[in-house]
Amino acid sequence: MNTLNAFIGTTLNEVNSKENLFLESQQQENLYSKLCNKEASIALVGLGYVGLPIALEFANDFNVIGFDINQSRVDLMNNNIDPSGEVSEEAFYNKNIVFSDNADCLTEAEMIIVAVPTPIDNQKNPDLTPITKACTTIGKTLKKGNYVVFESTVYPGCTEEVCIPILEKFSGLKYNVDFKVGYSPERINPGDKIHTLTTIPKIVSGSDKESSEVIYNIYNHIIKAGVHLAPSMKVAEAAKIVENTQRDVNIGLVNELSGLFERLNINTHDVLKAAGTKWNFLNFYPGLVGGHCIGVDPYYLIHKAKCVGKELPIISSTRYINDKMPSDVVSLIETHLEKAGKKIENSKILILGTTFKENVSDLRNSKPAEMAQIFKSKVKELHIVDPLASAEEMRSYYGLNLSTVIEENYDAVIYAVNHDEFDTINWEFIENISAESAIVLDFKKLLNVPSYMKKNLKYTTL
Ligand SMILES: NC(=O)c1ccc[n+]([C@@H]2O[C@H](COP(=O)([O-])OP(=O)(O)OC[C@H]3O[C@@H](n4cnc5c(N)ncnc54)[C@H](O)[C@@H]3O)[C@@H](O)[C@H]2O)c1
Repeated sequence: MNTLNAFIGTTLNEVNSKENLFLESQQQENLYSKLCNKEASIALVGLGYVGLPIALEFANDFNVIGFDINQSRVDLMNNNIDPSGEVSEEAFYNKNIVFSDNADCLTEAEMIIVAVPTPIDNQKNPDLTPITKACTTIGKTLKKGNYVVFESTVYPGCTEEVCIPILEKFSGLKYNVDFKVGYSPERINPGDKIHTLTTIPKIVSGSDKESSEVIYNIYNHIIKAGVHLAPSMKVAEAAKIVENTQRDVNIGLVNELSGLFERLNINTHDVLKAAGTKWNFLNFYPGLVGGHCIGVDPYYLIHKAKCVGKELPIISSTRYINDKMPSDVVSLIETHLEKAGKKIENSKILILGTTFKENVSDLRNSKPAEMAQIFKSKVKELHIVDPLASAEEMRSYYGLNLSTVIEENYDAVIYAVNHDEFDTINWEFIENISAESAIVLDFKKLLNVPSYMKKNLKYTTL
C-alpha cells in the first residue's frame, strides 16, 4: 500500500484522486472515525474572521467547541451573530457547536485549532502575544492523544520553535509522543463571496506521518476544493507568507510606477491596460495595502530572515513603498490643489470609503483611514463617508468622525474604497458635489468620466 510519502508535495488533483488511500491508516481511522461518530470534538481557539467560519463548517458534521477570550463576541455568537459581520445568521442554524469564553471547555476537545491574531508591534516586529497566550491556555488543558493545529499566519519555524515548547511546558506532555501538531494556513479573503473557506484549496501539514494523515482527512472532510499536503509544517508556514508577500511586492511595483507616471502625466491604469495585452504580463493595480495579512505577513518573513542573518531588500523596500502610500496620496492632492491655486489648509475634502478594503467593515490596519488621519491634520474640513464602518471604531482607532451626509463644494473628492453601496455613485454626482477646479481621485478608475468636464475639474487615478 502507498505510504504517506507518496502524497507529500503532490499536486492537488493527485492528492484528491488518492484521498481514499489515507483511510487505510489504522491510526487515522481511529481519530477520524471518532470525530465522525461524535465520540470526539474539535475546538476552535479564536473566533474571528478565520476561526468562526472554520468552526461553523466543521460543526455541520462534527461536534465543535468555539472558544474565544472576548466575552462580548461569544455572547453575540450565542445569539447567532458574527461580530465580524462575515457570516450570516442562517450559518449558525442546526450546527453542533457550543460557544464559550471559559477555557475549561477545551478539556472536552481532542483536536484544537488555533486561529488567534498574529499582528506586528509598533516596531513592525511580530507580536506573538496572542498566539503564545493561546498556547499557554491550551497547554494547561492538553491531554494525551490530542492534536493542536495552527491556522494563524506565522513565520517559517514559529510553530516548532515558539508554540510547541509552550504546549510542552504547560501540559507536561511530550510532543509527537503524547500529542501531535499540525499547521494549516488560512487563505480566506474577507468580503469575497466566491473564494470562501470550502472553495479555496487548503494546505495542511503534520508533525509526523500519522498526524499528517489525520489532519489531511479532517480538513478533506470540509474542503470542496481539495487539500494539499505539504511535506512539513515549515513549508506550510512559508507557503502562506510567500503568497501574501508576492502580492505585496507586485502591488508595490505598480505603486512605485504610479508615482512616476503621475509626474510624467501618464495614467497608470491606461499603461497597465496596454501592457496587459501581452500574454505574460501580470495584472496588478496600484492601491493602499492594509489589513491583517498582506501588509503584515512580509514583516514576519523579514523578522525571520534577520534572525538568520539574511536581508530581504525587495520585500523590505516594498513594505516601505506600500506603507508610505497614504502620505503619497495626500501629497498628490496637495500638489493638485496648489496647481489649481488652492491651499490645502483652506480646503474641504471628501473621502468615500475608509475600511481596509472593499465590502468589509474592518477598520483595523486601514490605510485609507491612515490617509484620512493625515488629511485631518492638514485640511479645513474633512468629511469621511463609509456605510460599512462603525463610527465608534473610527473614533477610537483613529480619532476621526464619520459623516452621514455628503455636502457640496468639495475641493477634493477621493473615491478610496469601492464598497457595493457606492455603486450608484457616478460622474454626474461627483461633478455636482465638487467645487470649481476640484480634484477627483478615483483610486481604482471606476468612474466613467466624460471627455469634457464641467467646473474645470481635474480627474486622476492612482
Ligand atoms: N482575516 C483574514 O483575512 C485572514 C486570512 C488568512 C489568515 N489570517 C490569519 O488568521 C489569524 C486570525 O486572524 P483573524 O482575522 O481571524 O483575527 P480576528 O482579530 O478577526 O479574530 C481573532 C479572534 O481571536 C480571539 N483571541 C485573541 N487571543 C485569544 C486567545 N489567547 N485565546 C482565544 N481567543 C483569542 C479574539 O478575541 C478574536 O475574536 C491571523 O494569524 C491572521 O493573520 C487572517
